[in-house]
Amino acid sequence: MNSMTDLTSGAAFQDQFGRQKRKLRISITDRCNFKCVYCMPEHPEWMKKHNLLSFEALYQFCEFMVRQGIEQIRITGGEPLMRQGAVHFIEQLQALKKIGLKRIAMTTNGHFLKKDAAALQQAGLDDLNISLDSLDETQFLQLTQRALSPVLDGIFAAKQAGFQIKINTVLIKGINDDQIIPLVRWAKIHQFEQRFIEFMPLDGDQKWSQSNVVSEQDVLTVLNSQFDVQIQHGQGSNPARRYIVDGMPIGIISTISNSFCADCDRLRLNAQGEFYNCLFAQNGLNLKDEIQQLTHDPLAAFVLQDKLRTYIWHKEQGFHAIQNQQRHSRKISMYMIGG
Ligand code: GTP
Ligand code: 5AD
Ligand code: SF4
Repeated sequence: MNSMTDLTSGAAFQDQFGRQKRKLRISITDRCNFKCVYCMPEHPEWMKKHNLLSFEALYQFCEFMVRQGIEQIRITGGEPLMRQGAVHFIEQLQALKKIGLKRIAMTTNGHFLKKDAAALQQAGLDDLNISLDSLDETQFLQLTQRALSPVLDGIFAAKQAGFQIKINTVLIKGINDDQIIPLVRWAKIHQFEQRFIEFMPLDGDQKWSQSNVVSEQDVLTVLNSQFDVQIQHGQGSNPARRYIVDGMPIGIISTISNSFCADCDRLRLNAQGEFYNCLFAQNGLNLKDEIQQLTHDPLAAFVLQDKLRTYIWHKEQGFHAIQNQQRHSRKISMYMIGG
């Protein structure tokens, strides 16, 4: 019998505000071949490869978490496809669908999809969210320091492979807010779900300012000038509020102006085993040793369950509550935690 079958299972982790945790985001690497202005610092200090959790340990952790009620796992980075073995890991995770896992997803910059999309589909990945901040080559280069065309090739390879695709666009005032209309038109032609994301204070060099944020309302004003826009009610624990724009679903993720924290069902682990109960959590929980012990110590699962229950219970209310504390003990960067 598996040592973990003795644990209380099915009862999802819950925080002090009654929010049950159903989604787990695993960052498998902090490395990325892009340098998006809203994410990477100018001089990133990568995690040491020997400090990363092995895929074997990550698999054991995922199994443990599915037994604790996790239903969806999203693989993130840095750029997840930078880590060798990522596709095989997705394939391994399929086994967890027998014990309650419903979806396995990935968020990627799209650059490697021309090469990897078919294999990811074969491996059973359920959906892909792909970043695309501009359709203008010069602007794309300025935002990411990489070329646009491999990403477009990657997006179309993923479509060809049969993936359901969401396009993620982080908008920055005065930089790419002129892309709202072109992206909506482009997404409509290709039948992608386009999502606009408010710039969050998670950029590597901490240059974020409220004045750079293109708010949900700003996006709606632009959309209303050209299209018929209807709100779709029932956001649930989805980070994006959905609108039907000329018959097409569009999402807006508005952490700054209208956060979805009240319904947050997410947890996250970074590549070296630090666990966060919130994207903006000031303190993580280093679980590397406990996770590594899962493979050979039958008691490790109990220790882990105990630590996690307490830490998750203390999850704070959300982004605004944490911002208002003005503590800033942790320098939070998106690339280290995967969004
Ligand atoms: P699905 O809803 O499952 O399609 O995925 P997602 O939108 O949660 O994942 P994705 O990686 O595509 O993230 C899109 C944006 O949502 C990114 O900017 C993330 O940082 C942001 N996001 C994801 N989870 C959270 C969260 O818990 N809190 C906040 N504030 N933002 C989040
Ligand atoms: N604010 C909002 N979204 C961000 N992302 C990365 N950095 C930020 C930020 N500072 C998005 C990426 C990717 C997802 C994982 O997070 O565009 O789609
Ligand atoms: Fe890389 Fe994604 Fe960060 Fe861009 S947002 S630098 S693609 S991890």
